[in-house]
Amino acid sequence: MNTQHIPVLYDKVVEFLKPKPDGIYIDGTVGLGGHSLAILKASAPDGRVIGIDLDVEALTVAKDRLHAFGGRCSLVNGNFTEMDVLLERHSVHAVDGILLDLGVSSLQLDAPHRGFSFNHTGPLDMRMDPRQELSSEHETALTAMQVVNNSTVDVLADIFKRYGEERFAKRIAGRIVRARQQGPITTTTQFAEIVKQAVPQKASKIHPATRVFQALRIHVNAELENLSTGLEVAIPLLKPGGCLCVITFHSLEDRIVKHCFRTWARTCICPPKTPVCICEHSPSVEVLTRRPVLPSVAEIQQNPRARSAKLRAARKL
Ligand SMILES: C[S@@+](CC[C@H](N)C(=O)[O-])C[C@H]1O[C@@H](n2cnc3c(N)ncnc32)[C@H](O)[C@@H]1O
Repeated sequence: MNTQHIPVLYDKVVEFLKPKPDGIYIDGTVGLGGHSLAILKASAPDGRVIGIDLDVEALTVAKDRLHAFGGRCSLVNGNFTEMDVLLERHSVHAVDGILLDLGVSSLQLDAPHRGFSFNHTGPLDMRMDPRQELSSEHETALTAMQVVNNSTVDVLADIFKRYGEERFAKRIAGRIVRARQQGPITTTTQFAEIVKQAVPQKASKIHPATRVFQALRIHVNAELENLSTGLEVAIPLLKPGGCLCVITFHSLEDRIVKHCFRTWARTCICPPKTPVCICEHSPSVEVLTRRPVLPSVAEIQQNPRARSAKLRAARKL
């Protein structure tokens, strides 16, 4: 099992969270535990981390890696949208810092059986939580294979456009619907080849299926919905002075974080034409990053997966 996940913007996360002894921190996306390790080291001797992840495979690796910290580190399988409930179970009501490092880990990307990458042949799966089953609400399917084989052409085009900002969304969706008449589309590489054939063969720096893979993954895991809910759940859990750090990997995510932080930091929420402020609104955070913090050239050279990372941080007032 490859566990070579290099934590992105490691020093910056520590700089913003300022972990302290006796502090309690939530790592809402513990992954392989790289950032949790940093927080535990910086908050020695008795700072605590509650690490959450959807992925039981990742948690097994993180558990091994963070074993030496004993009771200072608790790992929980779950969704960060439920961090308030998960904290209650640990009898914790407020924390000193929260980190969300979004997207997929190297473990997920590099494991063919998880179906996240067109670089490896595997089942077209893409669930971060391999135990995620049919959604009872919509009866929609929640592996990428089910989405690709059962959705209408319009639904597919909408997913590719909305979550991948894919220019050729309609053409790709049409091609998929024709291809599946020959039989189900079951593997990552089979799917990537169909996408490749649908788009003009112009020289492009990225693989032609990159955006469609991103879109499907975001859809299957409800990533944008989870992010919006997670941010709303996070802020009330912070103690005054506590910090929320979010690392995003594409503009759709970054936009959500930027907008949320801006809304929380507003001093007035009166309608635009109100002559005098009557709302008596008080901001709940101070934004610490007017612009997102980006990885240095040296970090990107060492870890090319960091190249699209953006870190935003806000402090609870
Ligand atoms: C980029 S990795 C995190 C890497 C981690 N910071 C490290 O240093 O190893 C993102 C992780 O977040 C998890 N994840 C994504 N969305 C989640 C959610 N809504 N709730 C819990 N975990 C989530 C994924 O399963 C993945 O393991």
